[in-house]
Amino acid sequence: MIILEELERAKGNTIVWDDLTATVPRETGNGFLNVALRTIRRRRYEEDLVILKGVSGYAATGNLVAIMGPSGAGKTTLLATLAGKVASTTGTVSVNGETVSRTTMSKISSYLPQSDALPASLTVQEFLLFSCSMKMDVSGAQKKFLSMKLSMKLGLIDCKEVLISSLSGGQKKRLSLASELITKPKILFLDEPTTGLDTFSAMQVVQTLRAISAESIIFCTIHQPGMDIYSLFTHVLLLSDGRTGYFGTLEDATRFFLSLGYECPVGFDESEYYIKLLSRRNPETSATNPNCEDAGPGELIDEICRAFSRSSLSRIPEITDGGNLEIESREGKPGCTIQFSWLTWRIWIQNWRTMFHGWITWISYFVSYYDQFFFSFLSKVFQFHNWTADFHAFIVNICSMQKYAK
Ligand SMILES: Nc1ncnc2c1ncn2[C@@H]1O[C@H](COP(=O)(O)OP(=O)(O)OP(=O)(O)O)[C@@H](O)[C@H]1O
Ligand SMILES: [Mg+2]
Repeated sequence: MIILEELERAKGNTIVWDDLTATVPRETGNGFLNVALRTIRRRRYEEDLVILKGVSGYAATGNLVAIMGPSGAGKTTLLATLAGKVASTTGTVSVNGETVSRTTMSKISSYLPQSDALPASLTVQEFLLFSCSMKMDVSGAQKKFLSMKLSMKLGLIDCKEVLISSLSGGQKKRLSLASELITKPKILFLDEPTTGLDTFSAMQVVQTLRAISAESIIFCTIHQPGMDIYSLFTHVLLLSDGRTGYFGTLEDATRFFLSLGYECPVGFDESEYYIKLLSRRNPETSATNPNCEDAGPGELIDEICRAFSRSSLSRIPEITDGGNLEIESREGKPGCTIQFSWLTWRIWIQNWRTMFHGWITWISYFVSYYDQFFFSFLSKVFQFHNWTADFHAFIVNICSMQKYAK
């Protein structure tokens, strides 16, 4: 059993991020003068804003890491920095013991931003086939097989013929996820994949992530998940003001906060309680905890962050076994011509359907506006009242269906 586990571990990957800092130029306004001055004399009119202040940690295949913290804590910035999307950073990110560049990271990982725009006028299956064709150089049959497999894996098989515009929020999130899984990324970065979903849909998305994490390392920013969802994660990273308040397993989190004297009060979810403790704008922090009567939220955050950095939990284990990092996918990327032809196909389908839909909508409005006049005129002239009334009802039904379909 132990040997099997060791083998499983050897097959996986590890990622270590050490002392990460991220800075962005502070935007001082969007007026013409400000923009012009910023552009002409960049350095002089901008100050740097430090968003991440020495964040460290590690994760391995099988880990589903929740990045949580108050709004503005730096969660998206950390995710983007790990994914190699932020240029001005210091510190290192290494995979299997080797420091990776931003280019390598973008090859081995997938980054799903919070608002991912999907083409509304394609169906689920068409979109997955399109994504396969843009990302992999495989035969048509393989693409079909892969898109079916992903639809099944993410519970989209029943709506494979449905237009994306008609999907629910949860289905759209799962479809975005499916398109990112095509290349089997070793590391997945997801920015708030559950935002805007009801608890049940959010639960379904996180359950899917938990299943996928068996073969990948998944980082996922999330806002105050309920206990059911929170307990699906294997690790939690709590950020506050760009610093690590805690990073580790959920069980160790309970122990760590308990060791500082912060026990989650009855009626609070653990995740909600930790975020409350780490929130600078939380006037109730002291009221929820008898141990911090004298400490303001700022001091409390300092205390927690300092305690974590001093604790053994913040130590990063040494990764000695390098393991082979497969950077390019075996299938390779399709050539420019193939990509161009698929893009043309997508634009053509989108335009054709939008145009067709536009015409139908226009005709239906026209008919529903003039039908009273038109049919009463017909029935008077031709004395075919019953026939025209039936036809009138038919047209009204079509028009109302058209309105609902929009
Ligand atoms: N390009 C930028 N220019 C200036 N400030 C920025 C920039 N990007 C981020 N920030 C600031 O850095 C801080 C952290 O931003 P980030 O988006 O990482 O927070 P977050 O934890 O993801 O917040 P939320 O939970 O609201 O999504 C915020 O105060 C934000 O205003
Ligand atoms: Mg964010």
